[in-house]
Amino acid sequence: MIIGKKTIIRPMEMEDVDFIHGWWNNGEALAYSGLNYGFMMSKAALENRFRHQITSSDMYVSDEKMFIICRKDDMMLIGDISYRNWDKRNGSAEIGLEICDPANRGKGYGRDAMAAFVDFMFRHLNLRRVELTTAESNKAGQALYYKLGFKEIGIARDRYYDSVKDCYTNTLYMDLLRSDWDEIKESILK
Ligand SMILES: CC(C)(COP(=O)(O)OP(=O)(O)OC[C@H]1O[C@@H](n2cnc3c(N)ncnc32)[C@H](O)[C@@H]1OP(=O)(O)O)[C@@H](O)C(=O)NCCC(=O)NCCS
Repeated sequence: MIIGKKTIIRPMEMEDVDFIHGWWNNGEALAYSGLNYGFMMSKAALENRFRHQITSSDMYVSDEKMFIICRKDDMMLIGDISYRNWDKRNGSAEIGLEICDPANRGKGYGRDAMAAFVDFMFRHLNLRRVELTTAESNKAGQALYYKLGFKEIGIARDRYYDSVKDCYTNTLYMDLLRSDWDEIKESILK
């Protein structure tokens, strides 16, 4: 398990699919990603998607993996965090973070989980770079990422259709190098 100050990140289990299913089909919780109706995914489709990840004992076979974020004090599930597009030749991967229950946002859980997970990715997967994308309008996400040392590396204009606002939005690209993380991580993780 990955142990932060306020959160614990653990591998996903089949029982978690119920929770993810409820959340991923909730347009209100997914409003930040411009998905007015959520992902509209059946439980069976989710189970299929995650079965290999959950049942495989080898962390290094897949280029993507999702983990569950729990509150440290009561182990309640509050979100998910994942990597994908793990480029093993170049030591790079994309990271995604969601505090699913809006009631648990703004309480420091996102920052704590992201810091612990970034450190895990650099040390456990031996990456030299992590990257992410976010809607240019997602100021909460960006504030968090800047605080952890991520830098903006580009914008793709009108890349994403937002079905909440019924408009196209810009996608912001950010990345963090391990060398930069190593310089600041002590002050962040302490
Ligand atoms: C974005 C998200 C991950 C942030 O996690 P969180 O637990 O809510 O944020 P935290 O409480 O850890 O706050 C960390 C920093 O983010 C910033 N932040 C958090 N909420 C904010 C808001 N509503 N507006 C502006 N900045 C905000 C603050 O700078 C904060 O630092 P501070 O506490 O020192 O002021 C979370 O709100 C979330 O999951 N939102 C929906 C999904 C999402 O947007 N995922 C990211 C997709 S790229």
